[in-house]
This record gives sequence, C-alpha cells and structure tokens, in this order.
Amino acid sequence: VKRAVVFGASGGIGAALVDAIGQRTPGVTVYAGARKRIEPQSSTVRPFTFDLRDEDSIRAAAALIGEDGPVDLIIIATGILQRGTAIVPERSWAKLDATAMAEVFALNTIGPALIAKHCMPLLTRGRRCVFAALSARVGSISDNGTGGWHSYRASKAALNMLVRNVALEIGQKNREAIAVSLHPGTVDSALSLPFQRGVPEGKLFTPAFSANALLNVIDGLHPEDRGKLFAWDGAQIPF
Ligand SMILES: NC(=O)c1ccc[n+]([C@@H]2O[C@H](COP(=O)([O-])OP(=O)(O)OC[C@H]3O[C@@H](n4cnc5c(N)ncnc54)[C@H](OP(=O)(O)O)[C@@H]3O)[C@@H](O)[C@H]2O)c1
Repeated sequence: VKRAVVFGASGGIGAALVDAIGQRTPGVTVYAGARKRIEPQSSTVRPFTFDLRDEDSIRAAAALIGEDGPVDLIIIATGILQRGTAIVPERSWAKLDATAMAEVFALNTIGPALIAKHCMPLLTRGRRCVFAALSARVGSISDNGTGGWHSYRASKAALNMLVRNVALEIGQKNREAIAVSLHPGTVDSALSLPFQRGVPEGKLFTPAFSANALLNVIDGLHPEDRGKLFAWDGAQIPF
C-alpha cells in the first residue's frame, strides 16, 4: 500500500487504523478524514475534513486526494449506534422513531454509499486495491437470533448490500480490485461504551488490536472475496 484513505479518523477504530497503517507500511501516505481536522501524529498523515451528511464535502475530499494520484486502500470507519437520548438502539418495534431511524441510515448507509460514489474512481487501475467499510456482525440477517437494535442492524445490512454492489461494479473495471464489509469485533470505543457491561472477559478489544487484525484480513483478501463480510479474525460471516 502506498496511499491509503481512512474516513472516520477521529473515531476509536479509525484513529487506530491511521496509526497502524503508518506503522506497518514504510513510505505510505495516509489521508485521514474527520469532521474536525485531526492533529497528525506523523508526517505520513494528511488530514482532511468531510461530513457524511454533506455530499459536497465528500466530493471535495475525493478531489483533493485525487490530485496526488490514485490510492490503493480506502477504509470507511465511521458509524453511529447511539446519540444521547435522541438515538438509542431500539429493543422493540414500539421504540421505532422515524427521525432517529433516518439519521442512523444517513450515517451508516447513505454516507458510505456517497463515499463510494466519489472515491471508487480514485482506486488504482490494473493493480490490487481494496475498499473496506466497517460494518457489524449484527448486520447479518442470518446471524440475527436475538432481535433488537432495529435501525443499527438494518442500516448495516443495507450497507453490506451496497458494498456487495460496489464490489461487483469495481470488479468489472479491475479484476484485482476488492470491496468488502468488515466486522471489527467488540472494540473499546465511544460507540461501544454504553454496551460494554455484558462483554465477556477478554472479548473487548483495544482499537489497536482490532485495527491490526482488520489490516491482516485486508492483506489476505483475494478477488473472490469481493462483496463479502469478514470478521476481525478473517472468518466470513454469512449475510
Ligand atoms: N466498537 C465496536 O464494538 C464496534 C462493533 C461492531 C462494529 N463497529 C463499527 O465500527 C465502526 C467504527 O466504530 P468505533 O467503535 O470506532 O466508533 P466511534 O469511536 O464512535 O467512531 C465513530 C466515527 O464516526 C464518525 N462520524 C459520526 N458522524 C459523522 C458524520 N456526520 N460525518 C463524518 N463522520 C462521522 C465520528 O466522527 P466525529 O468524531 O466527528 O463524531 C467517528 O470518527 C462503525 O461503523 C461501527 O458501527 C464497532
């Protein structure tokens, strides 16, 4: 990897991905995107700003990155599960709220779709390149045995479908291009904080552990893996 882009560089996992890519890859340039410009920890990091709710900001970010040439890795590490009392994972259909649901879809599904729209053309031609979106195991329909979390689950299931579509489309242009959804494990971050109590001992990963595990998965991907959902340990999760 020579040039990588991380959307969501201010997040727990996103920040760890920026660090890990820099540490693992000599000579790499990492474009690190967040709503508020991050303070780069190393000269290999180029900060940029974007907002998932603002397509123009995503278009502008893609144009800026594209000026320097093609990229070989794009990771979307943004997402929302809860925001105060306005957005709370629903335990029942009775808790469904159209405004909250629309916001979850705007951030977890539509925002990543717009990033794909503007950033897929940045990927290198004729060489291996990877587009990865952080999804979640709970976005697997066949894995859903407990229910609840309606908006989050549905937004991630829809994200998985969009990633599959993007994967098929990029595959027609570049047979070595790969797009996948990734489950990072349960990771100690702002997103998981309200839900960490039930997590078994040893199953709450540090962001650094998850980031390195995800990068190992990305390094091991083959073209036939495109469009699939993989967990942090490389196991495929059925949709
Ligand atoms: N943590 C876990 O246990 C876990 C488990 C399964 C899946 N995941 C997935 O992993 C991904 C990363 O999660 P995390 O744990 O690192 O969460 P996090 O620390 O809460 O980070 C969320 C990121 O999303 C960004 N974001 C939110 N709204 C945005 C907007 N309108 N425009 C641009 N960026 C926006 C945040 O930016 P700001 O700093 O600007 O708010 C932040 O960078 C998510 O997709 C999540 O669903 C996490």
